[in-house]
Amino acid sequence: VSVSHTSTTSGYDFGTTRVARSPVSIEELRQLEQAVGWTEEDAAVLRRAGDQVGAHAEALVDAWRARIAAQPSMARVFFGPDGKPDEQYKARVKRRFVQWVIDTCTRPHDQAWLDYQEEIGLRHTPAKKNRTDDASTPPHVPLRFVIAFTGVVASTARDVVGDVTDAERLRFQDAWTKAVLLQIALWSRPYVHDGLW
Ligand code: HEM
Repeated sequence: VSVSHTSTTSGYDFGTTRVARSPVSIEELRQLEQAVGWTEEDAAVLRRAGDQVGAHAEALVDAWRARIAAQPSMARVFFGPDGKPDEQYKARVKRRFVQWVIDTCTRPHDQAWLDYQEEIGLRHTPAKKNRTDDASTPPHVPLRFVIAFTGVVASTARDVVGDVTDAERLRFQDAWTKAVLLQIALWSRPYVHDGLW
């Protein structure tokens, strides 16, 4: 696939026809939201924190990336055939990851959002990993690491919501964690055999 994007964040295809439609229905999405305990209040909490979190989105992603880079079993999915980190790939993916932090706080859970969840899931699997950036790194991110890394992504965002009360910080932490877990559940779909998801 040859890709030439004009948008500022290369490969960030939210809302475009380059994104496959999710096979998950809106009804199934609502069931999953219910399962994770997601409410309108959670959406409002994240929206209110959006500016603050957005201002620190890059720092968050840098911290997460540093942890991945420090663990060889995870770092390798960013390595080129020469066994060294593919810096161009890392830089491009990083910009989309920063955008994701903002999207997680601000985007409504509509069809375009659902479709992009499918796309992000696919981009961690052989179906689409490397395609967007025309890279030659390993073909997939093992699902177990995506799930396990949620522990880090869920627990560190609370540090950036600024000077708020403990109750507000806890409220943000709950909403953020649910939002991340909901997405990981959706991203697991392309990894799971037909009928078992
Ligand atoms: C909670 C866990 C995780 C989150 C929230 C997350 C989030 C993301 C996001 C938002 C993107 C960019 C999507 C886009 O193209 O717009 C991405 C891509 C990527 N992630 Fe993750 N990720 C997680 C776990 C991991 C782990 C554990 C690894 C490595 C061991 C990893 C490796 C990658 C790679 C290599 C890409 C680029 C895929 C491509 O070729 O397009 N991710 N991730």
